[in-house]
Amino acid sequence: MKKIAVFTSGGDSPGMNACIRAIVRTAIYHKIKIAGIVGGYEGMINNNFINLDAASVANIIQRGGTILKSSRSEEFKTVEGRKKAYENIKSHKIDGIVCIGGNGTYTGAGVFFEEYGIPSIGVPGTIDNDLFGTDHTIGYDTAINTAMEAIDKIRDTADSHNRVFLVEVMGRDTGFIALAVGVAGGAEAILIPEDQKDEAKLFDIFTRNKNRRKSFSIIVVSEGEHGGAINAASKLKEKFPELDIRTTILGHIQRGGSPTARDRILSTRLGLSAVERLLEGGKNECVGMINNTIHFTSFKEAVEKYKPLPEYIYGMIDKLSV
Ligand code: F6P
Repeated sequence: MKKIAVFTSGGDSPGMNACIRAIVRTAIYHKIKIAGIVGGYEGMINNNFINLDAASVANIIQRGGTILKSSRSEEFKTVEGRKKAYENIKSHKIDGIVCIGGNGTYTGAGVFFEEYGIPSIGVPGTIDNDLFGTDHTIGYDTAINTAMEAIDKIRDTADSHNRVFLVEVMGRDTGFIALAVGVAGGAEAILIPEDQKDEAKLFDIFTRNKNRRKSFSIIVVSEGEHGGAINAASKLKEKFPELDIRTTILGHIQRGGSPTARDRILSTRLGLSAVERLLEGGKNECVGMINNTIHFTSFKEAVEKYKPLPEYIYGMIDKLSV
C-alpha cells in the first residue's frame, strides 16, 4: 500500500478533525502518501482530491466541524455515481480508503468495496452514537456536553418562571443523546423514538406533580417521528392547560464546537488504528472502541446490528423524578 485517502461524510461531528489529524500523521509515520477527499462521496465523484502532509493537519485537533467538509450524497447511491468515484480513485492511485462517518457512510463503503474491491476502513463519526461495534462514536460526548450546558441555562429561567420546558435534542431515530442528556441535565422525563409509551409516562408524571406542587420541570425530547418537543408540548398542554409550557429545539448547536478531551482521545485512537489496520490488510470493516479496547466489525454487521440503548437510565429517571 503506497497511497491512501481519507474523507468525512454524513453529518459532521466534533472530533472529526482530530481523527483526520491522527490518520494523516499515522500514514506519514508509516511512509504512506495520503490524500484528502473534499466533501465526502460527492468529492470522490467530482474528483475533489487534495494532497495532505503533516502541516496540513496542524492546529486542527481543537476545531469542530471537518476541514475536509462533508455531504450526504445521493449520487453515490447510484451505480453510475460509484463508477465515476472509482475512476477518480484509480486515477489518483489510491490503494486504500479511511472513511469517517455514520450509517450512510458505512453502507456506501460496503457497497463500494463489494463492487470495486478497494480496501476500506470506517471510523465511527456521528453525534448520534447509533453505530454497532463501538461504545461511543466520535462527537457524541461533545454533543451531550453541549446539550447539558444548554439545559443548565434553561433551568435558571424555568425555575424563575415556574415553567415546564420541553428541550428537543438530536438523534434522528435513536435516543442515545436524549438518554444521556436527560440524566446529566436532571430531567424529569425523557421521550425517545424507541419508546411509544413515553407520552403516557409523561402524563403520569404531571398528574403526580399536581399533588406535590413542583415548581418547574425539564423534559428532554428526542427528535424523531413522534414529532419532537413541539408535538409533545401540545399534547401536554391539552391535558394540563394550567401548565406554562415552553419548547427549545437545540438543533445544530449540538453538532458544533470544540471537541471534549474524551472525543479528541477517542478520535485519535480510532484514526491511528484505522490506518494501521489498513496497512495490515483490513479491508471491509470499521474500527470501534469497546471497553477501552480497539475492535473491528464488518461494515455489514455495523449497519445491520442493533446497538442496545442504555435502558437502565429509564429506571433511574423514574426513581429520581419522585
Ligand atoms: O446524523 C447526525 C444528525 O445530527 C442527526 O442527529 C440529525 O437527525 C441529522 O444529523 C440532521 O441532519 P442534517 O444536518 O443533514 O439536517
